[in-house]
Amino acid sequence: MIRQKIVAGNWKMNGSLESINVLLDGLLKMKDSNSEVVVAPSFPYLSAVSNKIAESNLVLAAQNVSQEEKGAYTGEVSTSMLSDFGVKYVLLGHSERRSLYAETNDLVATKVKTVLDSGLTPMLCIGETLSERESDKTLEVCTRQLQAVIDVIGIESFDKLVIAYEPVWAIGTGLSASSEQAQEVHQSIRAFLAAMSDTVSQRVQILYGGSVKASTSSALFAMPDVDGALVGGASLDAKEFLEIVKAAG
Ligand code: G3P
Repeated sequence: MIRQKIVAGNWKMNGSLESINVLLDGLLKMKDSNSEVVVAPSFPYLSAVSNKIAESNLVLAAQNVSQEEKGAYTGEVSTSMLSDFGVKYVLLGHSERRSLYAETNDLVATKVKTVLDSGLTPMLCIGETLSERESDKTLEVCTRQLQAVIDVIGIESFDKLVIAYEPVWAIGTGLSASSEQAQEVHQSIRAFLAAMSDTVSQRVQILYGGSVKASTSSALFAMPDVDGALVGGASLDAKEFLEIVKAAG
């Protein structure tokens, strides 16, 4: 099955109005791409980015959202607020939110349901730590993270989200998983889903994230079960990010 590739830039807590304008000026030079190209700024910049990319093919994502729809939740942001700015995707379960902000599998699953119910698309991040990989627990960890979401939304809704496999040991380290390592896990994720629904397993897009660079992306995107990339550091450099987009085709 042909799945459209997605190349998404997770800007994390980086940028200023000035630097984001410079970055976007570079990204807006993007040539036509068969891939969906996504940018995920921090909340305060969603409005400015939304306005700047309005006439382009760039797609907007948020890096998080509340599981609540509205109310007395100081500091939180709701799905309807994201929709006001034309957000399509919402990153959920990123390892930094799991490790630094104690987001559990159950909370992530609840957020996935809230996002799906609002009409936005979850980009569900999963992945193992180095010690889990070294203990040969990669698949156990990833399937546990996926199962928590399946238990809440059901397998039939699983092709309405995007999965981002991000080995924690590759995030921000400069040490990317090899394309073969990524393919192995992506293939196992698809096989895990196929045991419940072959249709869903073939349809769901699975991105790789973790020190993706232009120099490694062609080999990565050549893998049959890699449907794109979720890029951190390299997404803050317009030239590097557009090289990754070009490699995706
Ligand atoms: O969400 C993507 C991010 O975690 C990957 O970061 O800097 O390793 O590309 P980086």
